Amino acid sequence: MPAISQVEPFSQRVIVWQAEHGRHQLPWQKNKTRYRVWVSEIMLQQTQVATVIPYFEKFIQRFPDLATLALAPRDDVLAHWSGLGYYARARNLQRAAQQVQAQGEPGLPATLEALVELPGIGRSTAAAILSLTDNQPLAILDGNVKRVLARHAAVDGWTGSAAVQKTLWQMAEQRMPIEGAQSYNQGLMDLGSMVCTRSKPSCGDCPVSVDCQALLLQRTAELPTPKPRKTIPRKQAVFAVMRNPAGEVLIERRPPAGIWGGLWCLPQYDDLASLQVDLQKECVDQPAELNPLDSFEHVFSHFKLTLEPYLIELAAADKKLAIAEENRQFVPLSQLAHLGLPAPIRQLLGRLQVD
Ligand code: ADE
Repeated sequence: MPAISQVEPFSQRVIVWQAEHGRHQLPWQKNKTRYRVWVSEIMLQQTQVATVIPYFEKFIQRFPDLATLALAPRDDVLAHWSGLGYYARARNLQRAAQQVQAQGEPGLPATLEALVELPGIGRSTAAAILSLTDNQPLAILDGNVKRVLARHAAVDGWTGSAAVQKTLWQMAEQRMPIEGAQSYNQGLMDLGSMVCTRSKPSCGDCPVSVDCQALLLQRTAELPTPKPRKTIPRKQAVFAVMRNPAGEVLIERRPPAGIWGGLWCLPQYDDLASLQVDLQKECVDQPAELNPLDSFEHVFSHFKLTLEPYLIELAAADKKLAIAEENRQFVPLSQLAHLGLPAPIRQLLGRLQVD
């Protein structure tokens, strides 16, 4: 392995690699104009090259220039995007074309500052358009390039976070060559999608592997750091299984909004104390005994609920509980099958039936 001081600069190695192994025959690489490269870059934002190619060809055939795109019916533009998804991209594309037209400009502007003013064009897209068409030495930082840089310098942290993006932009700027911006930026993108892939990168084929910190530290599998998973909030609630001497259980209909809206459920309380207050209010005749049952967890899309059930065997005289509120009723366990009950409540009552 050559000493690092002997290897060519990062950018040179990428440029040489691009000439030999990179992509040169993509439709938007022929007859390069800012308009065509812009359309391709927007299509490529969330979509693979192979998928984009036929869409690009048809789009350009129908809307060969910015003026045609600006004047086309919106539905026609969307129809040509149909199947690519993320339709805001198509709407922004046409809005940007209309904005340029309204300003009386003949075509897309040739500066980064002016391009980023247009809908749907961020810093990296603007830099890609200008470097790929006009060789302007402007750094790009799309998803593929983020991965290459985060691995090469072993940058920890989710690449979507503001702090990591700032670091990566600085690195991208530092490595940007004055000459050969077009080959270099195309090379970085090609490297990211063809060699430095998310899983199983082909480090043996990589022109910058010799000083890749992730490879040296055997951290290519863990870098870039994935997006942190949101921790799901945990809640807990007390559920009362109030059973009368006939073996009937008290259920109540939940309000129409909120979780389990409109379903029949066991009376639910924030905590044990609230359940005790309810019991004291309702079954005056005899203090009820609270028997804790096994608590269990139910996972909703946005939170986890720990259900803490209590079994309360009511004396005959405690019928008031059901009468007090019209949304409550005692039902035999055998009838529960016919009622809309949340799954975890049905499970809980099912266990009771077996016991
Ligand atoms: N992804 C985004 N822009 C690209 C380009 N010009 N070539 C290949 N993949 C890309």
